[in-house]
Parts: sequence; structure tokens; C-alpha cells
Amino acid sequence: MKFDTPATTNPIDRLKVVGQPIHRIDGELKTSGQARYAYEWNDLDTPYAYGYPVGAAIAKGRIKIMEVAAARRAPGVLAVVTALDVGSLAKGEYNTANLFGGDKIQHYHQAIAVVVAETFEQARAAAALVDVEYAEEVGRFDLAAEQDAAVKPDDSQDPDTAVGNFDAAYNAAQFTLDETYTTPDQSHAMMEPHASIAAWQGEDLTLWTSSQMIDWWRSDLAKTLGIDKEKIHLMSPYIGGGFGGKLFLRADAVLAALGAKAANRPVKVALPRPLVMNNTTHRPATIQRIRIGAEPDGKITAIAHESWSGDLEGGVPETAVNQTRLLYAGAHRMTAMRLATLDLPEGNAMRAPGEAPGLMALEIAMDEMAEKLGMDPIQFRILNDTQVDPEKPERPFSQRDLIGCLTVGAERFGWSARGKPGSTRDGGWLVGMGVGAAFRNNLVMPSGARVKLDNAGVVTVETDMTDIGTGSYTIIAQTAAEMMGIAVDKVTVRLGDSRFPVSAGSGGQFGANSATSGVYAACVKLRGLIAQKLGFNSENAVFEDGKVRSGNRVVDLAEAAGPDGLVGEDKMEWGDLTKTHQQSTFGAHFVEVGVDMATGETRIRRMLAVCAAGRILNPITARSQVIGAMTMGAGGALLEELAVDTRRGFFVNHDLAGYEVPVHADIPHQDVIFMDEADPMSSPMKAKGVGELGLCGVSAAIANAIHNATGIRARHYPITLDKLIGGLPDVS
Ligand code: MOS
Repeated sequence: MKFDTPATTNPIDRLKVVGQPIHRIDGELKTSGQARYAYEWNDLDTPYAYGYPVGAAIAKGRIKIMEVAAARRAPGVLAVVTALDVGSLAKGEYNTANLFGGDKIQHYHQAIAVVVAETFEQARAAAALVDVEYAEEVGRFDLAAEQDAAVKPDDSQDPDTAVGNFDAAYNAAQFTLDETYTTPDQSHAMMEPHASIAAWQGEDLTLWTSSQMIDWWRSDLAKTLGIDKEKIHLMSPYIGGGFGGKLFLRADAVLAALGAKAANRPVKVALPRPLVMNNTTHRPATIQRIRIGAEPDGKITAIAHESWSGDLEGGVPETAVNQTRLLYAGAHRMTAMRLATLDLPEGNAMRAPGEAPGLMALEIAMDEMAEKLGMDPIQFRILNDTQVDPEKPERPFSQRDLIGCLTVGAERFGWSARGKPGSTRDGGWLVGMGVGAAFRNNLVMPSGARVKLDNAGVVTVETDMTDIGTGSYTIIAQTAAEMMGIAVDKVTVRLGDSRFPVSAGSGGQFGANSATSGVYAACVKLRGLIAQKLGFNSENAVFEDGKVRSGNRVVDLAEAAGPDGLVGEDKMEWGDLTKTHQQSTFGAHFVEVGVDMATGETRIRRMLAVCAAGRILNPITARSQVIGAMTMGAGGALLEELAVDTRRGFFVNHDLAGYEVPVHADIPHQDVIFMDEADPMSSPMKAKGVGELGLCGVSAAIANAIHNATGIRARHYPITLDKLIGGLPDVS
């Protein structure tokens, strides 16, 4: 099915099941420990062996000698596979660096060997005996030092945009701002580490893993191993978080496959936490310069956003200027991204790549500009709203209610009580409120599904879609239930298996809308087959209460299925509506903080997100996504930073003790409001994504609240107390 004209009324609009607050159908399996994650599969007869990876101890250079004799002799060792033994392996399409093989070291903790033994402890002990001699080369590890050497990425990255004459308009503006903001490298820090179990049967490989994108992984694993994709059966039905860190094939899968082949046993490999930080991807640090010119009435006349980030050779920029191309009006504008070569671990997508760090800068700049103009920051944003793509005014937004989010939020949060910077105290606390606009593009991806109706009236949905904790199982069950006119408990959902139709996968907040649209398409197919079998006109057949009705004929679905059942399979594909219309999601974040007058410690007191993101398929799972994202934004504002050792080229705080993320005690009352929307341009579901929107703008809202509390303008994340303490009022 191709979605190329705006949606009209369809069975989803009944909203008997879709849009209802249904608890996640996989919740009981998860809370009772029955949902098995990648490392936990144990249904093979052959005993498993354990693979322990060895990571490179240098950041750049070559392996000269790898001494593995002692490891091979160690107790319980079944095999040692080294990068030198396997030689150069092909790089996957979606990876920047090679995951394994050959003598070249591109980053610290690149996998260079895997030791396979009878037990995990034996494998780990033997891995410590591997002795490596390197030829080390000088690397580049410091973004600030490499900023001037950064280059314009190639045109496929769409690095530059310009409309009008920014310089002239900026120079002519009565009010101007020119500031630089920085965001650090961040880790996805998902709970479940990257893990895989590989088992070979002859030339056929079965892999249980933790992957957001089943088909990407399968293709890239086939390419890396040099085998036919059809020979790989990949499964990832439950995932303990990903946030983008599991979008692309990682070393655990390659090492498990090679280790299992060498040991002739099924092999489990989990990346130890330090390897998660340095072996896999991270969100790259940015340096962002923002200039805004405005007239005394508050209208923006000129806006520029430049961003610098780094990656390994052949890598990509962090697209931190994305939102500035679309969020605010202004006749004269420019954006630019520059990419430095860094020999740090591979940078790549982390939740809301581009917009998350971009808004950390832009939404402070907007707060600063409002202050210069003597305007309320909400009014300043409302005044500069645009209903068309400001770079291409012929393209309207499909739907855009940033103003609604700001005004509803202001009312609910009690914004009118906000005082002047540094003026509100509560005992030893300086108290302040801040706001940040939220923006994230709404992407769509082709997505397929297979829907089976059996002779008990049960519908089974199969798609390789993944559930990374987001609620995919539940919203897919709701979609099939609504389309087929049955209760949710009559739907079985099977996900994350390469034997099922290729789906959108989980990423870029495109999963919910795209994958349910694929299920919609398959259900339309199945409804047609049922109607055809019964001799009904599929246009006017009504599917309701477990029955299908046409005129005065009513047949139970179970009966319609017949003894063999019926199967509908289809795929949703997308036409030009994303080109004719700009599809984005909007929101507003409100935060109240207290800053300890003596120590500079910031505590968040209240948070509110208002989201305008199309139809909300399930208010419970959507709310949970936004709450999680707001929590991540709190981490980004106050805690999270991968500390770079700029001499040796690695992330030092490579565990969950040193890489700090918020815990329950850091997070106060959180509220989420969804605007009542349905976007007919987005899909037949009329839905969009919210999982990333919830993160966009939160950290800046916190920074702005800190400014309102203390009068201190922080422009460098995370805003730890050392960045505030020198500017606090004298309390002696
Ligand atoms: Mo998301 S960073 O595309 O998982």
C-alpha cells in the first residue's frame, strides 16, 4: 500500500482500541522475568560456551604482535579468534569503522580478539593473558583543538543552507546575540549491554541479539562475515534499551558468530560495560555558534546556527542545526555544519540526533535574546512562529501547534508567577522557572507486516519491528484489534525476527507511526481476503465485535477464517506528502529548579511537557516515552558527559559509576500533556513520533530555569555546580 494522499476516515478513527490507555501487553512477561533478553536464551541442547572480547589498548595505530599461546593453554579455553587471524573483514554499510579484523586500530577498545571458554570466568581470565604489542600513531582527540581544521562534509550530508543575506541583516539589526555553546560526548547508557548468542548449523547461522533494526543488522552481518544474508536467522524480541546505540551492527554479534564457528559450539558474548562506552557508538560533542538579530518589536530578522563536531574518518556530522532550519521565522538565515576528524570511538545517532544537542544551544539562545529584548521568552517564541518552512516558504507544515503547546503549558505550569532572575528564594534555595521549545522531525520508513486470522478468531501479527521498551507490542496489537474489530486480547504480536516481514524498525521516533501503518496495510489486505471469501463487498463490510457484517449478513471471524485460516501481508510505502509538507512534531518544556545558594547544586523541582505530535496511539506508552525522555534531558543538562582523555584518546568514565545518569531521587513530579491532534498527512494512523520529541528542548529549559534562579547564564553542558558556584550571591 502506498500512502500518497492525505488520510480520510478509516477504521482506526473508531478509536475503540487505538488511542485507549492500554497497559503494555508484554508488561507481565517483563516484570516476572519471563521475557528473555539477548544473553538469556537457553533453548538449545548443546551447552553454550562464553566469549570474552579483548579491546585495543591504544586509540590509533597497528597491532604488531598478538601473543595468545598463554590464553589458549588456560583452563577451559575452547578457541581464541584474533583480528590478525581473520584478516581484514568487510565493513558493514551502516558502520563507520570496521568492527573486527586486520591489524589497523581506529579507536580505543576496538575489538581485537575473542576468547571462548567453557565458562564466562574462564574466558575472562584467559582474555587477560592476551599480550599485544602495538605500533602507536599520533591521534586527534580534542574537538576544540581540531575545530579550525574541520571541513565541510560532502553534499549528501546537506551541510549548508542560506536564505536572503544573513550578514547584512544581522549587521543592520538593532538587537543582536552572538554566543557559543558546547555539548559533551554522551553515552546511550542503556541498561542491557550489547549482547549476542550465535549458533551455527552447517552454513546456517542463528543469532539472538539486541538490535533496533533487524534487517540492517542481518545485511551488515552477512557482509562482514562474507556469507549469504539468507543464511542468517536473527532474533531480537526483547531489548533492554537502545536509544540509537543498537541501530547498527556491533562487535558482539561478529565476535559471537566467529567464536561459535571456531569453537564449534553456540557462543554467548556480552560487551563488558567499558566496551559499551568505548567500543560502540556515542553522541558526539558539539561546539555551536548562534547569532540572532531582531528588531525592538521582537521580530527575528536574521538567524544563523553553525555547528562543529567530530568523527572518525568517513564519519558524519552531528546535525545540530536541523531545528534551526525550521523552528523560527526570519527572512535572512544560514546554517552550517563542519566536521573534524577525531580518532575517538565512532560517533553516531543517539536519541533525537541533531535536534537534541541542537536545541540545547538554540533554546538557551532564544532565552538570552528574549532577555535582551526585555520580552517574555514565551511571547518571543510565539511572535516568531512560522506555519511554513522558513527556508522554503512554499512548503507548509502538515500541522504545527507550537503556540498551543507554549500557551497551554504556561497556564498549567503557573508561568505568570515567574520572577526576575535571582529574585525568588525558598530557604537556602534560589528558585527559577525556565521554558524550552521542543521540535523533532517526523520521519517515516517503509514497514511490512503479516497478519493471520485463525479458526479461533485469533489474529497473529508478525513483523520484524522491535520493541526497545517503547510499547511496540502494545500499539501493534491495538492497531490490529481496531482494524479487525476484535478485543486486544484476541491479538498475538510476534516481533523482532528476521523470518517476519521487514519493518521500519525502532529509530528516529519513526517506529510507532511507520510500524502500525504497516500493520494497517496488512489488515486492509486481510479484510479484503475475508470479504472476498464470504462474497462481501470489502468496501462496505464492517468488522466489529469479532464479526464481519455486510447488509444483513453477519459471520463470526472464527468461522470466516475456515479451518486453514487466512493470511494478509503487505507493506506501507510512502509517497510525496513528506516533500510537499514539512512533517514535524512540536512541544514545550517547563521546568522549575532550585539552586543551593551555598553549594551551587541544582535540584529539579517540577517538570511539564506539552506535546503536539499527531494522534497519540496509546496515552500510557506515549506518556512513558516522554517521561523517560524528560529524564534523559535532565541527565543531559546536569550530569551526563563522557570525559575524554585527550592524550590517550578514550572515554575515561566508561561505566555507570563514572558516567552519571539521573536516578529516581533526581527526578521530581513530571507531567505530560498531549494536544488533541490527528495529522492526516502523516499516515492512515494520523500519528507521529513522541519518543524523541520528549528529549528535545528539556536541557535548555533547565539551563534557562537555572538562569532565572541565579542570574547565571550557563552555556556549557553539563551544568555542574563548578559552573555556578563562582557566580552565586554572597550568603555569608
Ligand atoms: Mo534513535 S537515535 O534513531 O534510536
